[in-house]
Amino acid sequence: MARILIVDDDVAFRGSLAEMLGDLGHAVLEAGSVDAGLRLLRTEMPDAAIVDLRLPGEDGLAFLRRAPAVGKIPCIMLTAYASGGNTIEAMRLGAFDHLTKPVARSALVETLGRALRLLASERDARPPDPAAAGHPPAEDGELVSSSEAMRQVFKRIGLVAGSDATVLILGETGTGKELVARTLHRSSPRAGKPFVAVNCAAIPAELMESELFGHVKGAFTGAVADRVGRFGEAEGGTLFLDEIGDMPLPTQAKILRVLQEREVAPVGARGVMPVDVRVVAATHHDLPAAVKAGRFREDLWYRLQVVPLTLPPLRERLGDVLPLAEHFLRLLGGDAPKRLSPAAARLLLSHPWPGNVRELRNAMERAALLSHGAVIEADHVGLQSVAASAAGPEIDWAGTMASAVAQVEREMILRALAATAGNRAEAARRLDLSRQQLYRKLTEFGLA
Ligand SMILES: Nc1ncnc2c1ncn2[C@@H]1O[C@H](COP(=O)(O)OP(=O)(O)OP(=O)(O)O)[C@@H](O)[C@H]1O
Ligand SMILES: [Mg+2]
Repeated sequence: MARILIVDDDVAFRGSLAEMLGDLGHAVLEAGSVDAGLRLLRTEMPDAAIVDLRLPGEDGLAFLRRAPAVGKIPCIMLTAYASGGNTIEAMRLGAFDHLTKPVARSALVETLGRALRLLASERDARPPDPAAAGHPPAEDGELVSSSEAMRQVFKRIGLVAGSDATVLILGETGTGKELVARTLHRSSPRAGKPFVAVNCAAIPAELMESELFGHVKGAFTGAVADRVGRFGEAEGGTLFLDEIGDMPLPTQAKILRVLQEREVAPVGARGVMPVDVRVVAATHHDLPAAVKAGRFREDLWYRLQVVPLTLPPLRERLGDVLPLAEHFLRLLGGDAPKRLSPAAARLLLSHPWPGNVRELRNAMERAALLSHGAVIEADHVGLQSVAASAAGPEIDWAGTMASAVAQVEREMILRALAATAGNRAEAARRLDLSRQQLYRKLTEFGLA
């Protein structure tokens, strides 16, 4: 039985949450503002806090920022609308987790349980990093999402932003890997220093080393002057190694050394140079498969995937399609963005998006050009309403029967949902499943 502080200005909501907590056997303290909450934190020393994001005066993020000076307890953020920006910021400021309003009893029990266990196991939690505060992502290049899958990604970005841990971003083409890398940089204490992106697939193998590590004058024919490599350019900041799955094996060995020793050897130079660079890598390749095939070093794979971030394909987060489409229309239309007709919206929801977010962005740019009025019709979008791409998932024929069947089931469900624009009742009918069966499968496959 714990003492829980609720900071929320909505009296009715606070009351119902207090009742739920009371039912669970906890004692409750209530505050309507950040200042009142901090006062209770000081005088009553609660075990955990549940804090609303939007509050009159200072917001919930201010509570997160100021609370550690008063008392270190797990703070669970509460939001009616969780945007990427505020989720990242809250996690970076040390929030224990996010709950969305309305709060489901089961989610509350689960989250609070974890928070109290954490509190018990490590009363001396990590101190917040004051140097890392205050870099909310800019408007342009904002990461937009309202799906649960991406919320997990945002949370992880927030958790690792303050550290120098190597991050590996995985995802199909156009899922936003580079945008995530930039967001990570912007949310980190390195934000004021350079973000340097290198496309490993675009550089010829024989130039790779001089590109990355630099060279001295005369190191090879054509080296007419010293050159600082990309690692040097990124000094103090972040180096983004894009398409790392396409990096030649000899360079992979050198990168591994840099990650271990934190120093680079310019081509033709005698000594080595220390570097202070955070490495973020990305690839759309299946790296474990490349490792098996001998095209990618296993030791580098282990070194890179300290923190893996997997971006789900757009067809697996249908909830993001319309918010993203509207976001791109706002970027194009400024104060008076064009709107989607209901038919155009349905079309967007039924498309399988093999090119993911990039394809959606291109489709919106095309539609905005083609439509003359303020409303975008299905014709302007110009997508073929195919239910799903012809190619299915790659089935592991050497695996177990159960896993192959699960892959097929998952794909069929995704296609049925795409074909019915996310209508679960209709999708269940098409698949000849009961709605309960479909829900169970959605949970099982992490698609709920
Ligand atoms: N969540 C998002 N919110 C807003 N814009 C996004 C989001 N995800 C992707 N985009 C936009 O979609 C486009 C493609 O994203 P990005 O270049 O980051 O993808 P990628 O995964 O690096 O693709 P590739 O594998 O082809 O290099 C960019 O214009 C990016 O700004
Ligand atoms: Mg990219």
